[in-house]
Order: sequence, then structure tokens, then C-alpha cells
Amino acid sequence: MSRKIRWGILACGKIARKFAADLQHVEGAELSAVASRDAAKAKAFAEEFSAKQYFDSYEALVSCPDVDVIYVASPHSHHHEHTLLCLNHGKAVLCEKAFAINSRQAREMVELARAKKIFLMEALWSRFLPHYQKVQELLAKGKLGEIKGILANFGFKPMPPVSPRLFDPALGGGSLLDIGIYPVFFAQSLLGKPDSIMAKMDPATTGVDEQCSMVFHYKSGQTATLFSTLASNLETDADIFGTEGRIRLTSRFYEPSATLQYYPGIVSTRTEIPVAKEAGWGYQHEARHVQECLQKGLTESPVWSLDHTLDLMETLDRVREAIGLRYAVD
Ligand SMILES: NC(=O)c1ccc[n+]([C@@H]2O[C@H](COP(=O)([O-])OP(=O)(O)OC[C@H]3O[C@@H](n4cnc5c(N)ncnc54)[C@H](OP(=O)(O)O)[C@@H]3O)[C@@H](O)[C@H]2O)c1
Repeated sequence: MSRKIRWGILACGKIARKFAADLQHVEGAELSAVASRDAAKAKAFAEEFSAKQYFDSYEALVSCPDVDVIYVASPHSHHHEHTLLCLNHGKAVLCEKAFAINSRQAREMVELARAKKIFLMEALWSRFLPHYQKVQELLAKGKLGEIKGILANFGFKPMPPVSPRLFDPALGGGSLLDIGIYPVFFAQSLLGKPDSIMAKMDPATTGVDEQCSMVFHYKSGQTATLFSTLASNLETDADIFGTEGRIRLTSRFYEPSATLQYYPGIVSTRTEIPVAKEAGWGYQHEARHVQECLQKGLTESPVWSLDHTLDLMETLDRVREAIGLRYAVD
């Protein structure tokens, strides 16, 4: 039988709660310890999700001998610092997206993991969802003929009280790194790195991008038109289209709630493609994959590799250069 994997969670915010809930759907996963900068928050989190230990500092968590892998769930402005902290204490890491603020930080994280031969992966959870795998199968079977492009959007209007993380430049705020990363990931994972990028932003009052419009061009004649906004609730859906048809991922294309529709011709030819659903938010798929990698002694995921992460980070840098958005650490 495979050995148990002992998880630690660094930072007890919103996404950490969903991840902790989903770990309960992962066979062989044990939530061993959690850490918050606030002891009462760590204690309440540990009680709610049955973690064996809790700490009031991230340093205590990374020093805990009962933890194999740490899920870094702090704001993206802190992923570099917190991932290096974990790696320097010999802990494997699953780091939330955006992996870092820029590709310089991302390279430092990857280089340290590779030098120390410690497992590191970006928590690009959509890559592990059953419907994404199904899209790949359909494309591999040539269902769309020659692929011509992608249309994808992600928009939501944050409800008060608005998390400071979303608009504060010091916390890596802005739509691109928070949600625009999903359309960019989707296009890049299916079409590859764009040959050229056109992009514009509409700034929020804090100077970060409230909205970001992107067009990726490929020498092969493909185009990806992508959009993110923190000003309005959009469908957050995606289309992949080709000379022989179209695949539509309905709202929200990046999470398990999406359904898959295949249009071989005009709209009335639509068929639904069945995709297996299971209980949970959907984070259990990436967690299972991390466990399989650790059990096999891998230091990188063969599915969402560190090179994929670096490529994605470089494209995000290129978009930011095009829209003129710089953070203090750039
Ligand atoms: N995969 C997904 O679907 C998904 C969804 C949402 C967010 N995310 C990503 O997950 C990360 C966290 O997002 P979130 O929505 O969970 O944010 P959040 O609710 O604000 O939680 C972030 C946590 O980070 C810790 N933290 C450490 N230093 C901080 C600082 N200087 N300022 C604020 N918080 C600090 C805090 O935990 P303690 O107080 O406990 O120390 C805080 O609760 C982001 O990178 C985001 O892009 C991913």
C-alpha cells in the first residue's frame, strides 16, 4: 500500500479552506499541520479541518518533522519568499498560482528546488480536472480539424468587503495575475507560447489592472483572444474553434462546474460531452497528483512541469510589459 502523505498548509486564508476541505477526498492524505500568523486563526482552522498540529508562524511549520509537503496559500506577492522558506527546510511544495510575481522570482524558486532535488509544483489545478483532460483527448482525435483559435474570459465583481489582495500592488493585485492567468494558461497549454502579444489594460485606482485585454498571435495562423476583469461578473467561459467545429467550455471553464459542448457544425448540431463529476471543489485532483509524484520519488510533475510554469510566468511578464504594469519587485 502507498505511504500516507502528511500535508502542511501555510496561510489559513480563503483558498486554504477549500483545499483543506478537498484533502478529505484524497486517499492517503493526512492534514498534519497548519500555520497562520495568528494563533487563534490557526487553532480554529486546525479544529475545523482536523489538522493534528497548528502553529502561529510559518517558520514553525517548515521546521515540523511531521510534514512531507506544504501547500503555500499566501498571496502571490509572498509565494517566492514562502516557497524558498519551505525548500530551505527540505519540504516539498505545492505553491498556489500565480506562482510568483515575475519570472525572475519563479526561476529562483525552480532553481532552488532543482538544486536540492525537492518536489515543487505550481497549483495550476485546472490542468488536472477531468474536463480539461477530455478537451485534450478530443483535440488529439482531430475533432476540430485545424485549430484556428481560442476565446476565453474570466470576470467577477468582488463582493464587499473586498479582499485587499485583489487591488493592492504590494500584494500583486490586479486581474491578470489573479484571474487572467486562467485564460492565458488555457490558451498557452493548448496552442503553445504566442509568437506575439497585443494587450491593453484599464487601471484600477491603485494602478493595477482592473481589466486586461489580450490577443495572442501564432505564426501558424492561430489567435487567442483573452480577457480578465475585476469589474463585472462575466460568463467565464471558453471556446476552442477549428475548421471542422468548436468545443465550448461553459461557465466556469477553469473549474469542475464547466460542461463540455461539441459543435461539429452549426449551433443545432451541439452535443454534450459527458465528464465524470465527483464531490468537492476540484482541488483533490492536483493533490492526488502531488501524492503520486511524491510516492514515486519524483521532484517535478510530468503533467504540469516547472518548465510549463516558467513558460507561463514569462508570458505573464510579456503581457505586463505590453500593458505597462510594473510591481516594486520587478
Ligand atoms: N486555485 C484557486 O482556485 C485559487 C482561488 C483563490 C485564490 N488563489 C490563490 O491563492 C492565494 C491566496 O488567495 P486567497 O484568496 O486565499 O487570499 P486570502 O484569503 O487573502 O488568504 C491569504 C492568506 O495569506 C496569508 N498572508 C501572509 N502574508 C500576508 C500578507 N502580507 N497579507 C495578506 N495575507 C497574508 C494570510 O494567512 P494567515 O493570516 O493565516 O497567515 C492570509 O489569510 C493567491 O495567490 C491566489 O491567487 C487560488
